[in-house]
Amino acid sequence: MTSETAKLTIGDQEIELPVLKGAEGEIAIDIRALRAQTGAITFDPGYANTGSCRSTITFLDGEKGILRYCGYPIEQLAEKSTFLEVAWLLMNRELPSANQLEQWENEITYHTMVHEDLKRLYASMPKEGHPMAVCAAIVGALSTFYQDVKFDSPEIERRIAAVRLMAKVPTIAAYSFKHSIGQPFMYPRNDLNYASNLLHMMFATPCEEYEVDPVIARALDLLLILHADHEQNCSTSTVRMVGSSQANLFASVSAGISALWGPLHGGANQKVIEMLISIQDGERSAKQFMELAKDKDSGVRLMGFGHRVYKNHDPRARILKQACHDVLQRLGTSDPLLEIAQELESIALEDDYFVERKLYPNVDFYSGIIYKALGIPTDMFTVFFALGRLPGWIAQWLEFHGDEDKKICRPRQIYIGANERDYVPLEKR
Ligand code: ACO
Repeated sequence: MTSETAKLTIGDQEIELPVLKGAEGEIAIDIRALRAQTGAITFDPGYANTGSCRSTITFLDGEKGILRYCGYPIEQLAEKSTFLEVAWLLMNRELPSANQLEQWENEITYHTMVHEDLKRLYASMPKEGHPMAVCAAIVGALSTFYQDVKFDSPEIERRIAAVRLMAKVPTIAAYSFKHSIGQPFMYPRNDLNYASNLLHMMFATPCEEYEVDPVIARALDLLLILHADHEQNCSTSTVRMVGSSQANLFASVSAGISALWGPLHGGANQKVIEMLISIQDGERSAKQFMELAKDKDSGVRLMGFGHRVYKNHDPRARILKQACHDVLQRLGTSDPLLEIAQELESIALEDDYFVERKLYPNVDFYSGIIYKALGIPTDMFTVFFALGRLPGWIAQWLEFHGDEDKKICRPRQIYIGANERDYVPLEKR
């Protein structure tokens, strides 16, 4: 993997550092020996130029707008695959055989119930609490119900923990919604597929039959596929970082849920809809909003736009924009928010501010319009993102576990505070 070296001159010292090449030709300077050889560290706030691991899961090229899971283009998976098949792919790096897929679907289906005692935890949380906070807490609490799951458990037990998470987090998510509206929790149904069961647990009540609309279930499955992994983003890096201290899988994923919640990350899908609604309500026009988004002093950003890695169209946003039209048409409905979103997008794509900074719609720009059409409440948008991202978090955590380069994640810093000084007694301050 190492073929070239990079030369670095610092003071009167010159050192050579190995250069690593990835499968798609990406290059990285291996600086692991830098501090030992020179005393210097690298400085990279936000880690924008830092490779934290070698990974075989997801490849993305932000300049070209390419996203592939284990080599398979996201466009093909979106069209032909299912979420559980994609989850298997991410965890095993190959598409499953028919038998493997059947067994995997069965395993997930038969682990969907949660311990009755776990349900009581919801009662202690305020109904108006954000469901992301509720989900992070309940997923963290799974560690207390499965105390055998440790970082260094045998592989089979780590795999069972992965199955439990994949199976139970939809139940936990749906219950966070039911809790917020004061409705009874619905037991999972083993005769339904993953997305249909999720919709059933969200929207069914014990009083009457709830029929899952297959159009809605398929649209939800597509959304989950598109969110399934995105290499070393903020929440995934969090999952790896927490796992690096040898915390168990439940604790690590709970931290990932918290990281995803922020409005600069997964929380942006909720913020996009709130932004579109504020324009629809006449708070300001699309044009006025765009002026505000360009004004640094306003503190306003065009939510759902821009990306740390994509400096071109986010391929997921392209798929979602088309899916918005398809879903609304198949449901026989329309949404003025889609028109507002398209207006904002066309203004941005022609505006020097956005063009120069290479700001394009990201995955969150159109996803909320679909969630809304499917009847998912706004507060739950980011929870659905978390459900989609779950197999990615698990696959990345498992990959970290088996990585021969793994170490506890512990960045350094440049200290710029006070130099050494003597303690001043209270009466002399
Ligand atoms: N609206 C207005 N200006 C923006 C936006 C935006 N949405 N995004 C970036 N910019 C501007 C910045 O002000 C900055 O301008 P400057 O160079 O004149 O200072 C420049 O573009 C670069 O932005 P950074 O914040 O430095 O880029 P970074 O890579 O750190 O941030 C991020 C990426 C957080 C996604 C940013 O684009 C953003 O805040 N977008 C809105 C929130 C959002 O949609 N988040 C979801 C991202 S996708 C995901 O996590 C699932």
